[in-house]
Amino acid sequence: MTDTTALFTPHAFAGLELSNRLVLAPMTRTSAQDDGQVHFDMVDYYRDFARGNFSLLITEGIYTDDAFSQGYANQPGLANQAQQNSWRPVVDAVHQQGGRIIAQLMHAGAQTQHNRFKDEVVAPSESRASGEMLSFYGGSGPFPLAREISEAEVHDAIAGFTTSARRAKEAGFDGIELHGANGYLIHQFISERFNQRDDAWGGDAIARLAFPLAVIRSVREAVGADFAIGMRLSQGTVTEPELTWQGGPDKARERFAKLMEAGLDFLHLTGSDVDAPAFPEADDERERSLSLTALAAQVRSEKAAEVSLITNGNVANVAKAQAALQHADLVAIGRSALANHDWPKRVQRGTCLTEFDFSMLSPLATLANEEDWRIANDKPANCEGRC
Ligand SMILES: Cc1cc2nc3c(=O)[nH]c(=O)nc-3n(C[C@H](O)[C@H](O)[C@H](O)COP(=O)(O)O)c2cc1C
Repeated sequence: MTDTTALFTPHAFAGLELSNRLVLAPMTRTSAQDDGQVHFDMVDYYRDFARGNFSLLITEGIYTDDAFSQGYANQPGLANQAQQNSWRPVVDAVHQQGGRIIAQLMHAGAQTQHNRFKDEVVAPSESRASGEMLSFYGGSGPFPLAREISEAEVHDAIAGFTTSARRAKEAGFDGIELHGANGYLIHQFISERFNQRDDAWGGDAIARLAFPLAVIRSVREAVGADFAIGMRLSQGTVTEPELTWQGGPDKARERFAKLMEAGLDFLHLTGSDVDAPAFPEADDERERSLSLTALAAQVRSEKAAEVSLITNGNVANVAKAQAALQHADLVAIGRSALANHDWPKRVQRGTCLTEFDFSMLSPLATLANEEDWRIANDKPANCEGRC
């Protein structure tokens, strides 16, 4: 039997005391009300993961303003007072179960599929996300052509992140995560694929951090020192998971250093697999096997930075979760958590884990659909051989 001691060791960061190392990964569920307020089903949904002993929950991506940030129909927002108030019952329900909850703040940029405020889509430079819109979020056909975001709109977008972070704090959240992964706006600014600007928001791999760094500074000023701020990063996007960052391991280390120096409390690294080598083509043989999280851990240790590391990607069993803690402090679980809202409890009790089944997200990734799937398919009593 796998030793699970490390997984169930407490961890503290930014004043948050976590009872174990298991984090619910952010997952969009397109189940909010049409006006972006939380639907009461979401209260039960998030409470369930806290009851199941995830010590920290990261919400689905929440849009930040009433301009260009919304990406999906029935995506929740933190863009106005009514949306802020609607999150309170979620936060309270999680806290009542002893869990902590962080709001993921997201601007969809070129990957917008539905926005009830604007007909246009913006990105750092004129660009189009590749592939087809995601049908399980209600999209179909190619992504729209995004126009270049103007200087004034860049400042509006930063203001959106800032105001929504303040709203998250007022709603009782324990922190915020800036969504800089999976090809959304922050990632687009980092990426040469979407950012060909020659002004202060563009340039080489390090200059392209100007936007995320400006967002971090502005959010920190608004929420103060005692509120957790993190950023999620990935190399790939939702439709191009195989993309890698320009500049290999050295530039990746430089990026991590800049972001850590900006005062983040945590960095959340995600990809197809926690163990996947980040730069398998690297010139230096020793570098070829390093995962993104291993690279970030090296930088943290060199800089003695006080930043917690969360790792994520394809962790569906306890041995892999335990191994992921070699470089990270916390491990975030996505799909396997959908199939097992009580993943940590099951592991503690030695109960089988139910396998994730994509049909629980089809035709739409909604909570109602998940409920239907659970009724039809979840048979934990019959799970021999699936541990
Ligand atoms: C239904 C669904 C919705 C997702 N929505 C988000 C999201 O809103 N924000 C985000 O950063 N990642 C999102 N992801 C990615 C997950 O957080 C996670 O990185 C991915 O599923 C890989 O982890 P896993 O192998 O544990 O599932 C989503 C994934 C799924 C399956």
